[in-house]
Amino acid sequence: MSIPVVTIDGPGGSGKGTVSQRLAARLGWHYLDSGALYRAVGLSARNKGVSLDDPAALAGLAQAVDIRFQPAADGRPAPVWVDGQDVGDALRTEETGHLASRVAQFAAVRTALLDKQRHFLQVPGLVADGRDMGTTVFPDALLKVFLTASPEVRAERRYKQLKEKGLDVTLLRLLGEIRERDARDAARQASPLRPATDAEILDTSRLSIDEAVDVIFQRLQQRL
Ligand code: DC
Repeated sequence: MSIPVVTIDGPGGSGKGTVSQRLAARLGWHYLDSGALYRAVGLSARNKGVSLDDPAALAGLAQAVDIRFQPAADGRPAPVWVDGQDVGDALRTEETGHLASRVAQFAAVRTALLDKQRHFLQVPGLVADGRDMGTTVFPDALLKVFLTASPEVRAERRYKQLKEKGLDVTLLRLLGEIRERDARDAARQASPLRPATDAEILDTSRLSIDEAVDVIFQRLQQRL
């Protein structure tokens, strides 16, 4: 019997990270934060002085990088170790998101991360969060969801998160960065950000996290 997967794709700020983690906790399933893998490669490239324009070297890094997740507690982001080091908040900054989006453009990097992502597929099931979970990594998923929200709503959510962490950001700058990242993620040739043809599209602009989790949970119950 195949192990069930729910894929939750969408742009940054659509709520997919929190929604996916809560859904996984509610189901007692594993959780894959695939963005963290791309972020780890971006961070590793910067730390090791590898050029962001060298796909072969970046793919080598992606192959070699050792990424470990600690179980998350109290809904906080899971601590992540990259090459034996706790990278803490460095993984979640806008700057690292930008690095991730740059390295994620290269097909060789994406291929190098495929097996690492598929290793997360273990009993009793997996909730996989990213950009291409339903289109490329788990094309046979039991349920595919594509979360969206307007760029303004996403910028505002991100603004609140970063302010809570005490970071100095402006809403206008975040909106600009979100639009830039969306455009690059959607325009790249290798696994661009787009819903799978069989994905259910869910706009979270007017939904709370719990409401979004409920909707997805109910859709999943109909398929299990
Ligand atoms: O979800 P996130 O913000 O952590 O992702 C960071 C970047 O990584 C995002 O801009 C694009 C890239 N990414 C990707 O290309 N494919 C994925 N499955 C996940 C993330």
